[in-house]
Amino acid sequence: MMIRQEIAPCQSPEPIVYAMQPKSDSITRRLTSPTDPITHAGEIALRYTLGETQTPVAAYQLPNELESQLDLTICKEGESTDQVMRALEELANATPRSTSTRFCNQLFSGSDPIATAADMLVPVINTSLYTFKAAGPMAMIERIIIAKMAGLLGFNGSPNKPEGIFTPGGSISNLVAMLIARNETCPTLRNEGSQGKRIICYASADAHYSIIKNAGILGMGRQNVRQIPTDNTGAMNLSILHQTVHDDLDAGHLPSMIIATAGTTVRGAFDSIDQIIPIAREFGVWVHVDACFGGAASLSPTHRHLLNGVELADSVAWNPHKVMGVPLSAATLITRKSGYLSKNFDETADYLFQGDDDALNPGTRSIQCGRRNDALKVWAAWKHHGDIGYRDRIDHLMSIAQYAASGIKAHDALILSCKPTYVNVCFEVVGKSSRAICDLLRERNELLVGHAEVDGRRVIRIPFVNGAITTDDADEMLELILNAAQTLPAGDNAITSAPNC
Ligand SMILES: Cc1ncc(COP(=O)(O)O)c(C=O)c1O
Repeated sequence: MMIRQEIAPCQSPEPIVYAMQPKSDSITRRLTSPTDPITHAGEIALRYTLGETQTPVAAYQLPNELESQLDLTICKEGESTDQVMRALEELANATPRSTSTRFCNQLFSGSDPIATAADMLVPVINTSLYTFKAAGPMAMIERIIIAKMAGLLGFNGSPNKPEGIFTPGGSISNLVAMLIARNETCPTLRNEGSQGKRIICYASADAHYSIIKNAGILGMGRQNVRQIPTDNTGAMNLSILHQTVHDDLDAGHLPSMIIATAGTTVRGAFDSIDQIIPIAREFGVWVHVDACFGGAASLSPTHRHLLNGVELADSVAWNPHKVMGVPLSAATLITRKSGYLSKNFDETADYLFQGDDDALNPGTRSIQCGRRNDALKVWAAWKHHGDIGYRDRIDHLMSIAQYAASGIKAHDALILSCKPTYVNVCFEVVGKSSRAICDLLRERNELLVGHAEVDGRRVIRIPFVNGAITTDDADEMLELILNAAQTLPAGDNAITSAPNC
């Protein structure tokens, strides 16, 4: 219901007439020239997209084969536009096609034409999202998307308004959140250091690897991330979490942050945020939700419950480049209350920040100085699909995952590794190695799919994140997997039988 209420009536503003017209002669000449690289790039993009029907997965080639086949060298003498454009097209065609429905190796897949078109304009406009002076209305676009996402997370009820920032990726969103949490729970840290205290972070054993990496980057110590075991759904075990925080306090350490994952990378599990919040409040620690993957569940009233409690979290990371299907990178970090970003990232630079309301100077809140405009594609896609389009996308992908899981459960040769809570489906083929199956499918150019560990077993993981995927595609994928498995010998440590969950 919340989503419907937010739909604002569309208005058509008066077109803006600019006082200064560009000197157009040279630009017109460039754009109408048959060798114009921008026009050429559009044609390559079109051919590349149409080529997907013939080659859904780029031909598998070893690095040395690619090197000898492609024109990758940079010479002393420059080459003509045509030569470079030809080399670019060959390079594109040899790259694994992440836009295809046969790419289910990562948590991004597919191609949203509107978002892609908007993103193609980004380098043409070539602004930097740090000041209103440089970015003009693009700084407003970023704010609009952040406000929309904050609303879906339930942050708008906060008396102290939420705020947020686009980052170069989800790992960096988590880094920003961990830095804020560390500084908030250890106020002496930024200037005097931690004064001998060990700053502790808690995350599930299934949390994304960026959490441990970030603890190293932030000087907290990788070993000070407590990897809390998960239950059989892949969610953090909360009684172990509670006990561990308690024990750390007793040991004189400084519990600093609990990182809940909403949509774990492999199983797609959701930690129970609403039960984590009271534990965090009891011990006075920050709650960050890594919803890079699962934030999109908030787009569907049917699945919003997976994120229950997120409205009380201190910060959330959410990547539109995953389940919302916009091109990489589109990643955000949103805090429930404002002020934390500028407190930790603002610095004096009078050569850059020259007036205007800091609300429209995102550089005062970002880890970077120059910043690519990643908000534009999200804005264009959302404007095109609307809230309803995104709701339908999530509902569709969730239903495809359930459909595939039922197919796996019903098949004698397949074993479902865990009941899917989100869009990921993990399973094994009886008697066969998951790794060998994935490798063979890649070599055959049939399907790019990954393997991962679930409860100590190597399983095949299909994330259904490509909005174009149908039940027929899901059937075809399982068929390809079974066909490949049939040609393989019995695998070492392969599953023979197990209760299908
Ligand atoms: C749960 C989770 N968090 C964070 C990330 C990192 O996001 P990015 O690849 O944008 O750095 C991922 C990536 O898959 C993820 O699954």
